[in-house]
Amino acid sequence: MKKKLITSALPYVNNVPHLGNIIGCVLSADVYSRYCKSMGQESLYICATDEYGTATEKKALEEGMTPKEICDKFNAIHAQVYKAFNIDFDAFGRTSHPEHIQITQEIFKGLEKEGNILEETTEQTYCEHDKKFLADRYVEGICPHCNYDSARGDQCDKCGKLLQPTELKEPKCQICGNTPTTRATSHLYIDLPKLEEKLKAFQETSNANGAWSSNAVAVSKSWIEMGLKPRPITRDLKWGVPVPKEGFEDKVFYVWFDAPIGYISATIRAYPDTWKDWWQSPETTELYQFMAKDNIPFHTVVFPASLLGSGINWTMLHHISATEYLNYEDTKFSKSRGVGVFGTDVMDLDIPIDMWRFYLLHNRPEKSDSAFTWEGFVEDVNSNFIDNIGNLLNRVLAFYNKNFEGEPWGSKLGDREIKFITSVKPVSENALKLLEGVQLRDALNEALALGRAGNKFFHESEPWKEIKTSPEDTKRLLVVLAFLLQDVALLLAPYMPETSEKILTLLGVKDLSLQDLGDYSQLEQQTPPTPEILFPKLDKKVVAEYKAKFEGKGEEGPDPIEAFGNLEIRVGEIKSIVPHPEAERLYVETIDLGEGSLRTIVSGLVKYYKPEDLLGKRVLVASNLKSANLRGVESQGMVLACETKKKLEVLFTEAEIGSHVYISGEEPHQAPKEITIDEFFACPMVVKSHQMEVGGKALEAMGQKITTTKIGDGKIA
Ligand code: 2FM
Ligand code: ZN
Repeated sequence: MKKKLITSALPYVNNVPHLGNIIGCVLSADVYSRYCKSMGQESLYICATDEYGTATEKKALEEGMTPKEICDKFNAIHAQVYKAFNIDFDAFGRTSHPEHIQITQEIFKGLEKEGNILEETTEQTYCEHDKKFLADRYVEGICPHCNYDSARGDQCDKCGKLLQPTELKEPKCQICGNTPTTRATSHLYIDLPKLEEKLKAFQETSNANGAWSSNAVAVSKSWIEMGLKPRPITRDLKWGVPVPKEGFEDKVFYVWFDAPIGYISATIRAYPDTWKDWWQSPETTELYQFMAKDNIPFHTVVFPASLLGSGINWTMLHHISATEYLNYEDTKFSKSRGVGVFGTDVMDLDIPIDMWRFYLLHNRPEKSDSAFTWEGFVEDVNSNFIDNIGNLLNRVLAFYNKNFEGEPWGSKLGDREIKFITSVKPVSENALKLLEGVQLRDALNEALALGRAGNKFFHESEPWKEIKTSPEDTKRLLVVLAFLLQDVALLLAPYMPETSEKILTLLGVKDLSLQDLGDYSQLEQQTPPTPEILFPKLDKKVVAEYKAKFEGKGEEGPDPIEAFGNLEIRVGEIKSIVPHPEAERLYVETIDLGEGSLRTIVSGLVKYYKPEDLLGKRVLVASNLKSANLRGVESQGMVLACETKKKLEVLFTEAEIGSHVYISGEEPHQAPKEITIDEFFACPMVVKSHQMEVGGKALEAMGQKITTTKIGDGKIA
């Protein structure tokens, strides 16, 4: 039997993984890896964080951190979440590691040497101010189709049409707000048409031997049928693997070129002496790859092409297991809207991790999209696991302890028991076969079927009656059910490792693996310890509570639009500005709000602006705030700014002095004369895509939207 090299898609490092991400890759691969190890097969399970690309750069810009800092932060979050889920990697690397840069460049050089790289020059959007080419999502402007005013360079969110940044009317650089130009730039392409024959041959053999999931077969076929085109592998960015070629010093590899190479580099880093035994040993190694469906083409077309065209004899994909999507309740997971359960939420909730593993694997979206629902979660865990396996274990142990306490199980079976255990043997054998073939959901269902068969057998045998007349027979019944439970526990081990361990301990056995399926020799000698309840049921009461907790902002809490009615925000011009005599962080300004006299306002802006950057500027002032004494100076209002954890940008405007801020499309409202600071903050105003808004509605003064240039997304304070 060949060794098994197992990978799960490298998670992007700019977000916290949600339940759908977790079942799509790391959890599924973990089950397979645990299965292989438990069967004594030689295997290696590799993952890493995918760190490069525009998404990371953009996130860094928004959070006021460097890309490296963003990656460090999120790599640590991913590692913690996977640890909490008991994901047992043999290596968990990072694409920012030096080994990654080296091997990515080597593969590229191989492709180049073999004549599989093309070069082409095209016109791309360029910002003269920021001195950089702008990735599609860094450009916004007016949609040429529907006139929506914040269409992104790749797509219009209003009419949905796909765009090129050069098509936008009045395009703006999302970093500095200036109008970009275009410049010619050269990029490198992998020559997929040239590699087509090799690719087709690879796909055919791999699928024939490795039985790909059906979605993978369909997607790969359609890519070939649509006709392969050369595919760009470089980008005008800084955060990525440098391109080792003259004239390309300012470019990096496109993240989709380097990401899958992360599987290799993570192995190199963790196993510097033996990595080739895995990655360059196609005769002795089979590669199993786990991912969600959106990753299929990169693993059946693009990455294989990089390997096939590099002149090295790589271990190629053998089996691909691609899941459909897991949705959340009746919608999608969304970190920004706070919808759904994320890995970090699971860490905070007091629900045993195996309950999550059970539910996700039992509802693994294999053939079609599925959805996590709280009701479904509680119902599935309680009825299919606890009422089934938990119940069988409890009744067998409790009954045994009551009647045969202190006695070893022994090996005696009667005809009734032999008949029973023989009848269920094909089920456990089938479970093993399904596991070997990566039919994870079906194999789990077989283990559950064993539990149900055990419960039925117990019930039909009526031990509570039998014990009075023939206790020896009852003991045999309990013994065979203990045998069955041992098999169930072994089959559950890849899915629910902690629970499996606990069941085995309660039966009195240890150090067993799937290779011991059907071997009860240890068990026969053991005396079970005092029984304990496996798990309490999940409380149905949590459904409503958690559903509300994770359904996102907007439905709950005060209505932001209503709270906005309390605020009076007006445009003021800064007439003078000096450092606060008593506080290093603060300035004291006088501001003209068109009231005849100037207001004195204290603001914590020293860290972010020099006085000359603010003097004479028009800003937004919260003008009905109760005056407050700030370190000895009476402040009659507050200058508004947009902030992220590390950055701050004052909201400047050119609207007339004294004009009011109101919701676009509505009349300016009449606010109370005076409000407290708490009332002010009860109204959550934000900046989204550089636009100030409240409750999803844009704000404006004198018909002009209020926009930021530096910070794309942040909250107002
Ligand atoms: O879709 C994703 O989350 C990508 N980061 C997956 C990369 S998988 C592999 F190619 F590395
Ligand atoms: Zn710019």
